[in-house]
Amino acid sequence: MKSLVLLSSYALLASIPSSLAYPGMKDTMAEIREAASLAPRADSKQLIGDLKTLKDSQLTSVGKDLKAILLGTKTAQSASIDTSIPPGTVDSAACKADPCCLWKWVSYEMTARFNGTSGRCNKLARGAVRLGFHDAAVWSNTTSYGGADGSILLTDEISRSDNNGLSAIADQMKQWYNKYNKYGASMADLIQMGANIATVVCPLGPRIRSFVGRKDNAKAGPTGLLPDVNDSTDKLIKLFQAKTIEPHDLVALVGAHTTSQQHFVDTSRDGDPQDSTPGVWDVAFYGQTTGSPPPRVLKFASDIKLSGDSRTKPEWQQFIGGQAHWNEDYASAYTRMSLLGVNNINDLKECTPVLPPERKSFTNQDQVVLDMWLQGQFNQLNNMVDDAAMLTGLISTTG
Ligand code: HEM
Ligand SMILES: *[C@@H]1O[C@H](CO)[C@@H](O)[C@H](O)[C@H]1NC(C)=O
Ligand SMILES: *[C@@H]1O[C@H](CO)[C@@H](O)[C@H](O)[C@H]1NC(C)=O
Ligand SMILES: *[C@@H]1O[C@H](CO)[C@@H](O)[C@H](O)[C@H]1NC(C)=O
Repeated sequence: MKSLVLLSSYALLASIPSSLAYPGMKDTMAEIREAASLAPRADSKQLIGDLKTLKDSQLTSVGKDLKAILLGTKTAQSASIDTSIPPGTVDSAACKADPCCLWKWVSYEMTARFNGTSGRCNKLARGAVRLGFHDAAVWSNTTSYGGADGSILLTDEISRSDNNGLSAIADQMKQWYNKYNKYGASMADLIQMGANIATVVCPLGPRIRSFVGRKDNAKAGPTGLLPDVNDSTDKLIKLFQAKTIEPHDLVALVGAHTTSQQHFVDTSRDGDPQDSTPGVWDVAFYGQTTGSPPPRVLKFASDIKLSGDSRTKPEWQQFIGGQAHWNEDYASAYTRMSLLGVNNINDLKECTPVLPPERKSFTNQDQVVLDMWLQGQFNQLNNMVDDAAMLTGLISTTG
């Protein structure tokens, strides 16, 4: 959608005298200007995995698309959807004949588990987004293994303190693995599909192109590669750069905290959210991290530091009012994340059409109770905000 090709022609087009303007050019110019403001990319975009060595002539259509996404010339979002009912059961011959059929069944099941009765995404969904990050990010340009390889759940990696808070989604994901691995689903793919399905189940979340075919690894990844909430910006920026993730993309990725409700940063405030709209994939997180949100909102030290550092602040500021910009950049940065350590990118298959539709608008039906909760009332709601019925029940007792 927004491309670097467009960007590089911006300067040229902008210098065309208005006497040469043609009808319709205004729209094109506006689009180009929008693309320029949407994607001011000074970041170098590195290739990863097998795409580093394969020649263009060797690339499959998936390989070409993923190369373009990694280089920032193609969008990582897609509305392509298959609303048909999958053929037969997951073990039928008809289903086995279609490589995405299995994933359709997985998607139905994940979507149902991730959607709260409030219409917001729930804690399993938030866990799935974080689990995708914590499997994939255990990789750097100096490690020879690790990455999006399923090892977080196939080994004892999950018991490392980095992964505090992920036990519920870990149990759920292992159940899905036990059910679907015999039909060919790798743990690595289940985890990354889980992250993308969870993201789009969250209202306003991007619909990220989704690929399968990653290989599992039963070896625990190296330690020391996940960020700590007390790390300095220098440390965070270096840590992510060694994963080929530039500061711009880091700023986009931490926006996932828009859905979050922390448990372990401050255990006395278990369930307190990182913006006033947990379970909604909006940009409130960016503005509230630099502003004065309601008292219930707990800001992470790492987010505060990133919001103010000269290397990350300009992008942070742009996301404050830029939902479309953020969704676009998150989708592309997360696609890179989901491919770290994957050395058969050219052989992956695309199953984007199995994802549920995205929701581009959302209103909390229970806002009046949420507001009271955000002001510090109803502590007991901290682990129930996924569920609108609970909140609605409460309001009737408060008048
Ligand atoms: C600067 C880097 C980051 C740091 C220091 C960081 C740290 C944390 C911490 C401490 C929590 C709370 C865990 C708990 O107490 O339960 C958390 C939650 C979360 N993080 Fe991050 N994170 C970072 C980047 C990311 C990225 C890149 C993603 C995804 C792409 C992500 C997704 C999430 C999500 C979805 C949650 C909410 C989990 C839940 O509500 O259960 N984080 N993060
Ligand atoms: C999630 O639930 C809401 C409210 O019940 C519903 O409107 C929405 O369509 C559901 N989303 C998906 C992807 O099923
Ligand atoms: C981060 O720093 C705070 C304040 O010094 C401290 O209370 C907390 O335990 C630290 N957290 C971690 C994970 O080291
Ligand atoms: C790894 O990435 C870091 C940060 O970009 C860079 O300084 C370093 O040279 C890279 N190392 C290798 C082996 O590519």
